[in-house]
Amino acid sequence: MPGAKIAVMGFGVVGSGTVELLDKNKDIIKKHCGKDVELKYILDLRDFPDSPYRDKLTKNFEDILCDPQISGVAELMGGTTFAYDYTKRLLSAGKSVVTSNKELVAAYGAELLKVAKSHGCNYLFEASVGGGIPIIRPLHQCLAANKFERISGILNGTTNYILTKMIYDQVSFDDALKQAQELGYAEKDPTADVDGHDATRKLCILGSLAFGKHIYPEYVHCSGIRNITLDDVEYAEDAGYAIKLVGLIENTDSGLVATVCPRLVSVNNPLSSVNDVFNAIMVTGDAVGDVLFYGRGAGKFPTASAVVADIIDAIKHEGRDMITLNWEDSCDRSFIRPYKSAKVSMYVRISAENVDSLKATITGMFGYVDFIPRKHRSKNELAFITPVMQESEIDRRLGILSQSAQLKRKIRLL
Ligand code: HSE
Repeated sequence: MPGAKIAVMGFGVVGSGTVELLDKNKDIIKKHCGKDVELKYILDLRDFPDSPYRDKLTKNFEDILCDPQISGVAELMGGTTFAYDYTKRLLSAGKSVVTSNKELVAAYGAELLKVAKSHGCNYLFEASVGGGIPIIRPLHQCLAANKFERISGILNGTTNYILTKMIYDQVSFDDALKQAQELGYAEKDPTADVDGHDATRKLCILGSLAFGKHIYPEYVHCSGIRNITLDDVEYAEDAGYAIKLVGLIENTDSGLVATVCPRLVSVNNPLSSVNDVFNAIMVTGDAVGDVLFYGRGAGKFPTASAVVADIIDAIKHEGRDMITLNWEDSCDRSFIRPYKSAKVSMYVRISAENVDSLKATITGMFGYVDFIPRKHRSKNELAFITPVMQESEIDRRLGILSQSAQLKRKIRLL
């Protein structure tokens, strides 16, 4: 039987991992596909004169698009400009595309899935969320019988590494970020990771799959971890919580609420013990209850593992569309509820001259609060956890409190 010929676009970390894995595990991959898989092109504008794969390199996208032998392409370039244009043209030519590009899927997933369907090929993106963790197929295949209630997850390895360093080694945010950059986890410009945009894109993909409508990044309330301090980490620990950057999407009676923000996660919640660059995603369905997915959320070979699995599926289903995704486009966001209308409990840190004298006022204001007994609390500072109530109502009451105290931080609980 003639082999399947494929191409890889982008020879960076994930691209080179994919190429090496295709080579290293070619016998296993052949068994799954029922035929040899031959890598014919690697598209990249850079030169790699020392690479053992240099004979496959091309700088010309048309080589791939116009080669009738190419049936599947891995788009590992990232971004939404060339990646969008190339993906659309490949799918329109009936060539399946697999990708780790969460930015593209979060922005154009509904559209590209439609293009694939109408041209009898597949657009697959298992590697776009959670690196090597199987989560896309489980969500829309294994868990397809469920009505999803909620998805909560640690979706970004870089920020989880930074927070782990802050929690366990008392390293400041800036120093932990520097370490993450030295280890190659964080980019030189770490904005997408530390400000929550990367996690937001991943939450959009999970939410769109689970709830059937495209959730665009602008539908998600997003805030990152830049302003978290060692004081917050210590207060949280004293109260029995770990601070994590959590992507959360909840299905309420009046719509979906989607947020990416730091949260205090109870030590009883398994997400609290997900450390370093690991990711974890907890999915709650009405039939199955809680299911937890855990593993390496980033990195060369973990991500390549998911990319190659998609390549195998694309080859196995060549010539027919295998996707039965419930993912419609959504131009109006009426199914999304304002995040401040959701009920939440909040960690609050304040400072004032005579902070203890405010305790009675705070208790009167909220009915009941848990004051956090911190070991090394500064005299002028106080932290507490509010009862569960609508976030807008917590804000209103904190607005009154801010007349007699300085509000230093508020962080939602999970
Ligand atoms: N920058 C991402 C992270 C890479 O740190 O999780 C994987 O998507």
